[in-house]
Amino acid sequence: MTQDTLVILDFGSQYTQLITRLVRDQSVFCQQLPWNANQSTVVDLNPRGIILSGGPASIYMDDAPTLPHYLLDLGVPLLGICYGMQALTHALNGEVIPSTDKEYGKSALEVSKENLLIPEGTHVAWMSHGDRIKTLPPGFVSLAKTENSPLAAMGDPTRQFYGVQFHPEVKHTPIGEEIVRNFLFDICCVNPRWTPESIIDQSIDQIKNQVGPSRVLSAASGGVDSSVATALVFKAIGTQLESVFVDTGLLRKDEQEQVILSFQESLGMPLHTIQAADLFFQDLKGITDPEQKRSKIGNRFIRIFEEQARALDHPDFLVQGTIYPDVVESYSADRVHTETIKTHHNVGGLPEEMDFKLVEPLRYLFKDEVRKIGKALGLPDSLVWRQPFPGPGLAIRCLGEVTQERVERLRAADNIFITELEKADLIRTSENSSIQGTSQCFAVLLPVKTVGVMGDQRTYEDVIALRAVTTDDFMTADWSRLPAELLARISNRVVNEVPGVNRVVYDITSKPPGTIEWE
Ligand code: XMP
Repeated sequence: MTQDTLVILDFGSQYTQLITRLVRDQSVFCQQLPWNANQSTVVDLNPRGIILSGGPASIYMDDAPTLPHYLLDLGVPLLGICYGMQALTHALNGEVIPSTDKEYGKSALEVSKENLLIPEGTHVAWMSHGDRIKTLPPGFVSLAKTENSPLAAMGDPTRQFYGVQFHPEVKHTPIGEEIVRNFLFDICCVNPRWTPESIIDQSIDQIKNQVGPSRVLSAASGGVDSSVATALVFKAIGTQLESVFVDTGLLRKDEQEQVILSFQESLGMPLHTIQAADLFFQDLKGITDPEQKRSKIGNRFIRIFEEQARALDHPDFLVQGTIYPDVVESYSADRVHTETIKTHHNVGGLPEEMDFKLVEPLRYLFKDEVRKIGKALGLPDSLVWRQPFPGPGLAIRCLGEVTQERVERLRAADNIFITELEKADLIRTSENSSIQGTSQCFAVLLPVKTVGVMGDQRTYEDVIALRAVTTDDFMTADWSRLPAELLARISNRVVNEVPGVNRVVYDITSKPPGTIEWE
């Protein structure tokens, strides 16, 4: 990257990504790496400053992460947050002790010395720590205190090493953003040049350098990430790119037409459709287990890619819409015990024997940055603000066996639900639309029949569950408190308009313990 870069070293805090976000929000590029990343990986980035995250360890635990010593000799500013501050203190011969009064929640932070990092005065700061600093390392002065932490912030202005015991990255610390800005602009003296336009220019150069005159294949799914990745590559290499859209028969109503039209109208880019619905339904015949559905669908996608690659005389490169959280997750996998809840077939799901090199232009971007790039490239809001839709599509919302008839029933109910939410302005469809809206909403067809009465007739038909959630990151989610009147209208319409459905239920489970999808 040809711009000022910060490095965030992750000591295992649940808030590390918030630090990364906060830095990026200031138009400064930063990379998040594990605390024990190779020295050369960090040094090669030529960072203008380094932030050490918090973490769950105590510096005196046997296998506690420690501050890599080379960091002290890089000659760049350091900012340790919570555990990061303790690791810095320990490495520089200060003293960290277990605190008898653990400090969780909001504290009054009193700034005791004028400094470049924290503005003068008394502020609310959010604490979450057991250990605390007892003795500052030589060369440091105390900058601030709270009732329980006499050394709540410290600094060595000569070496430009700083530490804060509280968490500036969480919203509960109102001056947190200002502190991060002070570190970036007054201490590290970086230039805020990480803008959508600069990212696009840089990506285009990188894509051109990477692929040269080779041909590239892209499979656009209509999702935000794959659309923006494809659009970027098209902008860089034009007709060297061949883009396909796979019609799995498992898409939402009108989805395929909308996506193809959007690409054509906004970018003048042709999307070549591969009609494969029959193949997918054949593969899914008799399958009811969710993981088996995913695996069947994933394998079919791969075979379609392979055929397409053969038909195009083997392009060297494949575009992938990998985004930064996927990259960060993949390194954290060995840090914490992770269990497979669901296999996301389109996240790193390509088989190794596929002979493609990957073009991943969004590898360093968060979702909202991807949206900004999409917008700057001229993609329509309908693509840029599209709700996430799982790779296996409606198959994992059609519980039990996936047949054309059942998917049709689900698709019709889903369309009523979405249309009614759109009318009520409860789906975010552009930057300006209501943020109170749902983040993801869909219908699920249950493998259950219930008795009902319509007219004077007994019915024995399917149940539709409605699922709507609000979330920032899709890692946790709350069920949306939709107005009762709206739910009543949707239920009424589904039962009246969708043949074969006589009951509608609303899912009121948060994540955790539920997941967003039902399978
Ligand atoms: P869960 O159900 O795990 O979903 O709470 C979190 C987010 O991921 C989406 N999801 C998938 N996306 N392939 C995908 O590309 C998949 O197999 C898959 N399964 C779930 C889900 O829609 C939600 O946005």
